[in-house]
Amino acid sequence: MSVQWWRDAVIYQVYPKSFADADGDGVGDLPGITAHLDHLATLGVDAVWISPFYPSPQRDGGYDVADYRDVDPMFGTLADFDALIARAHELSLKVMVDIVPNHTSSAHPWFQAALASEPGSRARGRYLFRDGRGPNGDEPPNNWLAAFTGPSWTRVTEQDGRPGQWYLHLFDSSQPDLDWENPEVVEEFDAILRFWLDRGVDGFRVDVAIGMFKEDGLPDWDGSHWYSSDVEGPHPMWDRDRVHDIYRRWRRILDSYYPPRVMAGESAVPHPERLALYTRPDEMHQAMNFPFLWLRPVASEVAAVIDRTLATAGSAPSTWVLSNHDVRRPVTRFGSEDPWVHADRVTPTDRALGSRVALAMDALMLALPGSAYLYQGQELGLPDNDEIPDQARQDPVFLNSGGRVIGRDGCRVPMPWTPDGPTLGFNTTGDAWLPMPAEYGARSVAAQQGVPGSTLEVYRQLLRLRRARALGHGRLVRHASMEGDVVAYLNESANVRTLLLVNLGPSPVAIPAGAETLIRTDGGDGPLAGYSAGWFAVA
Ligand code: NOJ
Repeated sequence: MSVQWWRDAVIYQVYPKSFADADGDGVGDLPGITAHLDHLATLGVDAVWISPFYPSPQRDGGYDVADYRDVDPMFGTLADFDALIARAHELSLKVMVDIVPNHTSSAHPWFQAALASEPGSRARGRYLFRDGRGPNGDEPPNNWLAAFTGPSWTRVTEQDGRPGQWYLHLFDSSQPDLDWENPEVVEEFDAILRFWLDRGVDGFRVDVAIGMFKEDGLPDWDGSHWYSSDVEGPHPMWDRDRVHDIYRRWRRILDSYYPPRVMAGESAVPHPERLALYTRPDEMHQAMNFPFLWLRPVASEVAAVIDRTLATAGSAPSTWVLSNHDVRRPVTRFGSEDPWVHADRVTPTDRALGSRVALAMDALMLALPGSAYLYQGQELGLPDNDEIPDQARQDPVFLNSGGRVIGRDGCRVPMPWTPDGPTLGFNTTGDAWLPMPAEYGARSVAAQQGVPGSTLEVYRQLLRLRRARALGHGRLVRHASMEGDVVAYLNESANVRTLLLVNLGPSPVAIPAGAETLIRTDGGDGPLAGYSAGWFAVA
């Protein structure tokens, strides 16, 4: 594998609570992941990114980190992590871990020290504590809103029992934002990176990569507060230019290792031009393409995002993503009338349509040059679990909104490995931290393995062909058959030319003369059926 493996890598996201549960307590763990790495190797991915497994109160699925240098006992031990890396490397899989720099957990010793210290103290200076507005300081310091509903400020009680200062949290109140103007914060994260690099990780996925720096003086803001959607223009809290200083600094650290390690940003900006700034040669290796994730499956919109991404990406590879632990799974959203990645409520879905469109979009993504991310279960065509009872839901998006917004639990349900058993092979005890729907059995790994035409087997074939035809390194040009509901591109690398046809409408479309089928998601051999994709060899 080349030292620039990330340029065309397919990277598989593991959500550790839900991948595989070796100790049977109902929550997935690191030994469970290690035991199932061979699934990833036979699937044909290049790397695995593991969402946070650090000690955490789990108020936000582990994105509330209480100790950046350890493993939560629920997930195992540092020795389990070492065993995971060793096994992954044996299987030629790279390992990326999540780094969460915008905020810590409120259980982090730094925040606990801040609460126990005076206003203006060194301990408070690591976070964004401010006096409140109004005569008694009982109004928040500014009008910013938190991503998980409500104001982004919470007031603390001082040591003398009186209401005191406020601290900023752009997410849940259990996730206080760090002050990145403070050199101590900067140095701490240098050390955290080195800790995991010295343990052998191949790279990092950077959480909230557009966060960290805030506008001086924290002024009021009447524009959109929404993280990861319509961040337009200069913004006091997201995508500020100074954040790039951090990535230049981190890049120097990554480059001091051999082979150089990588970082991929959760860079949720709507404009490919702003996105491209994150992957300048001395910054990140990858910046996840959220405009692609936010797409509706409409041919003209899909082609527009692809073209604009490739036109602005510069020398960095584009990084495509259709699914992750924060959004409705493609099978669910593409089968619903409102294909938006977040839905306030569960909406009726046409499962057959959703499955077809999702697989066609997967085939589209995997034919594009650059790198692609898959989210666990995407290779099985899993839908969301839309039937989680309210009392079982755990996402702060649901809890903080009093149940008004359904949140992200539906896409975080444990993986089905076998068609039978109370937890479908997730563990042997039958406990699961979120309920699994019965329909997952028929979509389990064992149920699809070796079954021609199953989503899993189509995936394996796509990944094999992608590698054999070097699609990740190709040059992409529009093909003449692009019109109406059809997305059509030629991917050319050396003298291998692959035609990608995606039919996002209901009617069959003709295959251009001379195109030889490599793989088709409709399994047919005549015109390409509606809501299907195919890869064809062309002269
Ligand atoms: C993005 C993560 O993917 C999401 O799960 C988390 O809630 C926020 N960042 C806050 O860390």
